[in-house]
Amino acid sequence: MPLELPSLPYATDALAPVISAQNLRMHHEGIHAGYLQRLNTLLAGDDKDQSLEHIMNTGRGEAQACACQAWNHTFFWQCLTPWYQSPGDALEKALTARWGSLEGFQEAFMASAMAHFMGGWTWLVYTPQGRLDIHNAADAGSPLLRGFIPLLAVDMWEHAWYIDFGNNRRKYLQKLWSIINWPFVEQCLEDAMATAEGRRNLLHV
Ligand SMILES: [Fe+2]
Repeated sequence: MPLELPSLPYATDALAPVISAQNLRMHHEGIHAGYLQRLNTLLAGDDKDQSLEHIMNTGRGEAQACACQAWNHTFFWQCLTPWYQSPGDALEKALTARWGSLEGFQEAFMASAMAHFMGGWTWLVYTPQGRLDIHNAADAGSPLLRGFIPLLAVDMWEHAWYIDFGNNRRKYLQKLWSIINWPFVEQCLEDAMATAEGRRNLLHV
């Protein structure tokens, strides 16, 4: 069975004006779908079904990179929402304990994201030591392959913002906070804290 593009959890115009329908359609139906199409081509002739995580963990080269990019995008879509809610008490307390305040976390996250020289991803992760941390991954990097449990992803590839924000990456990051799906982030944190196997539940798809 070929790997299929998951549907977005909202309409393509639902994140506007932060992310326009034009940008989101290109990103989902063009970029995200493209990684899966390429992966299916690379896997053609393989007679057994493989999950994205299996390919990420055991694959090499382009197949592994495509699997990581497909997984990262599916996770990223769930980190965004048109139905914004502020972070819950438990999540805000955890962020405040680590970065002093929610705003302190947001500034640290944006500083890390702005430090990308080329394409990549910035993540809020739960470390094997049980700490919250910010992790920058270049290209198709995955925190799963570093032993981290991802809680929040932000796509820092140029295609993520260029249509809507030109070369103003910082504005993209600042606007993104108004569509972050904090209940999803908090659920990921609960899963991570509840069990070391929590990452198996992360995609919720
Ligand atoms: Fe992307």
